[in-house]
Amino acid sequence: MHTEKLNTHLPETQFILFGALGDLAWRLVVPALFNLHLDGLLPGKFRLIGVDRQITAARLKERLLDGIRSFSRRAAPSDEQWSGFADKLEALPMNLQDPDAFRALAEFPGIKQAETAARIYYLAVPPFLFDAVANGLAAAGLQHGEAQSRIVLEKPLGRDIASFRAIDSTLRAHFSERQIYRMDHFLGKETVQNILAMRFANPIFEPIWNRRYIDHVTVTVAEQIGVGHRAGYYERAGALRDMVQNHLMQLMCLVAMEPPVAYDADDIRNKKLDVLRACRPIRPDAVPLHAVRGQYGEGWLKDERLPGYREEPGIAADSNIETYAAVKLLVDNWRWQDVPFYLRTGKRMTDAVSEISIRFRDVPHNAFPAVSGANSQPVRLVIQIQPQEGIILKFMAKQPGTPLRLRPVDMRFAYREAFSKPSPAAYETLLHDLLLGDATLFMRSDQVQAAWELLMPIIESWEANPAPDFPNYPAGSWGPESAERLVARDSRTWLTPSQWHPQCDSPATDDDER
Ligand code: BG6
Repeated sequence: MHTEKLNTHLPETQFILFGALGDLAWRLVVPALFNLHLDGLLPGKFRLIGVDRQITAARLKERLLDGIRSFSRRAAPSDEQWSGFADKLEALPMNLQDPDAFRALAEFPGIKQAETAARIYYLAVPPFLFDAVANGLAAAGLQHGEAQSRIVLEKPLGRDIASFRAIDSTLRAHFSERQIYRMDHFLGKETVQNILAMRFANPIFEPIWNRRYIDHVTVTVAEQIGVGHRAGYYERAGALRDMVQNHLMQLMCLVAMEPPVAYDADDIRNKKLDVLRACRPIRPDAVPLHAVRGQYGEGWLKDERLPGYREEPGIAADSNIETYAAVKLLVDNWRWQDVPFYLRTGKRMTDAVSEISIRFRDVPHNAFPAVSGANSQPVRLVIQIQPQEGIILKFMAKQPGTPLRLRPVDMRFAYREAFSKPSPAAYETLLHDLLLGDATLFMRSDQVQAAWELLMPIIESWEANPAPDFPNYPAGSWGPESAERLVARDSRTWLTPSQWHPQCDSPATDDDER
């Protein structure tokens, strides 16, 4: 029988979910909260107040249960599991653009009667409402003390540096930086958190983690999905804003940062910020040498024929929005001088795979005969983020027998083999940290700003010069030709992501450099 576990270490908490009937709450936020509930990680006293325009308790419960059934990593909940959670839910209809409505929130019995409870204001609403909510909360006196209340926002935090600054200054007029939690869900992924563990809990990587041994670093986040039903959002965003500005740059920071003194929110975020500050600014006239864009046209994925981006529902027939972006960044510091970081992401790619590839330099002198195949596969360390989760070291070994031949082999760590416990969803990790008040895995304002600043020359150049060749890659491919040229100019090639996963009987060991 399920007995409800309670986390009695956490204070009484009210979780005020703006946009409770929306897509984000339905797909990600509430299924994660529900799993925290099942794992006994929610505070013993916890209320979720769902806020939306036309909401009733019955509608809220119906919608959230549907989301949990569809998107939780666990099987559909039993009646008992659900009712234990449903008892914590309340609904408050509110028009967020009406400042008076926030007074109703302040007067809401659940809020009023628990004056000392911790409050989390979760803005699962479109960005144009961020200002209205922050101002509304402040006008109704709901900021409620630095230690007790937190406000949570999801990207996109602006669409350029100016709009980011505008959102940020409204927020910071009413809330202190310590109260503001900016989500980047990639930071909650186990494999992403493990980058720090790998680098700094083992003595063997740090001595070779620099320009002396590393030739270049590639970060790939490839998706097979297209724009789906998100035309309204994506037509104003595109791959650079949607993925590079946040997820890919955060991954790069974790690879490039200096060792922290302590596993502490400020120290880690300072070290990540240092990476962004050290990135060489991209001169406007050098944008084509540092960034390429693509848009998918029609194509095939396996045996399915897929429409081009411009044929997707809600997309303009002449849309200039990029669904693929690749950027080359250089980090001007002692560790990384002249080691390029190539970041690429795209929709409707051949595979859905996210990984970081650290490509080591070739041996300085090759003692083996030319026919042996030395250096035929560069040594590299691959951090597999998803769907496979693990780390692979690819190196050369002697093939048994004569004549002397060298052959690439893999040494592998797979989460699935090493740990019996399934990884929590990224949102579960982040929401739990939020309840604990630990901001380590959230983005700080100065980081977000630095990332926008770096990308502004690209954004401005792309806006001023519509792409003449869109669509320029077929759905189901690895992206546009121009992305190949971006790395070929440096005499490099993109490395095809590793396809191995632990259930395979005979893992592929072929040379997979393209
Ligand atoms: C989101 C982007 O932040 O991340 C989406 O807005 C993208 O466009 C998604 O599909 C990818 O996240 P994940 O966790 O599914 O790889």
